[in-house]
Amino acid sequence: MSTPNAILQIDGQTIELPTMQGSLGPDVIDTRTLGGQGYFTYDPGFLSTASCSSNITYIDGDEGLLYHRGYPIEQLAEQSDFLETAYLLWHGELPNGDQKRDFDNMVSHHSMLHDQMLSLFKGFRRDAHPMAVMVSIIGAMAAFYPESADVDDPHQREISMFRLLAKVPTVAAWSYKYNKGEPFIYPQNHMSYAENFLHMLHANPCETYTPNPVLARALDRIFILHADHEQNASTSTVRMAGSSYANPFACIAAGTACLWGPLHGGANESALAMLAEIGDVSRIGEFVDRAKDKTSGFRLMGFGHRVYKNMDPRAAIMRQTCHEVLDELGLHDDPLFKMALKLEQIALEDEYFIEKKLYPNVDFYSGIVLRALGIPTSMFTAIFALARTAGWIAQWNEMIVSPGHKIARPRQLYTGSQRREFAPVEQR
Ligand code: ACO
Repeated sequence: MSTPNAILQIDGQTIELPTMQGSLGPDVIDTRTLGGQGYFTYDPGFLSTASCSSNITYIDGDEGLLYHRGYPIEQLAEQSDFLETAYLLWHGELPNGDQKRDFDNMVSHHSMLHDQMLSLFKGFRRDAHPMAVMVSIIGAMAAFYPESADVDDPHQREISMFRLLAKVPTVAAWSYKYNKGEPFIYPQNHMSYAENFLHMLHANPCETYTPNPVLARALDRIFILHADHEQNASTSTVRMAGSSYANPFACIAAGTACLWGPLHGGANESALAMLAEIGDVSRIGEFVDRAKDKTSGFRLMGFGHRVYKNMDPRAAIMRQTCHEVLDELGLHDDPLFKMALKLEQIALEDEYFIEKKLYPNVDFYSGIVLRALGIPTSMFTAIFALARTAGWIAQWNEMIVSPGHKIARPRQLYTGSQRREFAPVEQR
């Protein structure tokens, strides 16, 4: 069905712009020809700009819906597993039994790092943040797999995608082991993706470590919930970097760097730190008041989202996972979890948060679950990066093969000096 043109009237000129209709969501005004007519659109932070078209993920922020390839996140979190979700993001359909086995097998057989990478780890300070290490090591993989630069070759793209999905957990776990001064634990092919990650994180060569299946399932669910989220900052960074046909490992390193920030992937670490700082249920009111006071510069971490103006569907699943994990570990009375529930209740009833449509996001609860899994806070963003790698590579691949591909090159509203003449230093 064709959609009506948009009419822009400016300075006596009438410009007609076509509109486009997706399979779900609002129509968009196609402004691609506007530049040729002497105007650019101004939208810092992409508040109203679709930077690409994509078949992968759909979000309705007002209704609190998240679909991957049409499947609601609730169904995937309940019935799928992370690698199957990665397959879905990547291929567009759920795998049959054979495809699932082959995919899992490929991932587990690419999880070892090139042995020379050990020297890279050893070049870092012991206290290096795991995200700093991850950005570097993931980027450095480009040097180990130079053939991956041939992004036109579907085989090279596919093998790079498997390598990324398979090796990023090893990089993340080893960045932590290096912090601790413990020996690196090699991946185990007979374990599931989440079990293997827990094993690489918590095992040591001196004793047997068997991952708890309930906790491994909870971690796998965290991976599913973070796997993709359409054109968020880090995914857009990956697409932007990849738009020049840069090496895929370098592109994923760029996405990892973007995710590191506290307004994005760093939020669960900050949310947990905030709960610890609040310290007691009696002080929640004081912190809520600070968050409402614009002059304080303080925000309730784990609240608010650029797209969701309703409950983040992932937050509800994460709250449930939190119950399951704390029950399994006999930590029902965990003071941080109790405080989180109370803070959520108070904020959801507060006029300021209601009016601004600020709801808990996925990171509000994920920190509590990760902490209960014995994962240190410094690793929280690394785990987010590990999971988001599935979405990044799917989005990167979609961009590379999309017809009419263009390098990403935004324009600007220039507000600097007009032309002036250079004066030699002695005349200034
Ligand atoms: N606490 C208090 N006030 C808030 C909060 C918050 N957590 N979040 C937004 N607001 C207020 C802002 O002050 C602003 O008020 P104003 O309209 O009176 O100026 C209004 O709500 C809109 O906020 P913006 O920052 O303009 O919204 P934006 O969409 O740009 O930002 C963001 C979204 C960055 C997530 C923001 O809500 C925030 O900083 N939250 C805390 C950090 C966080 O939890 N990040 C995780 C994001 S989810 C993820 O990455 C998986």
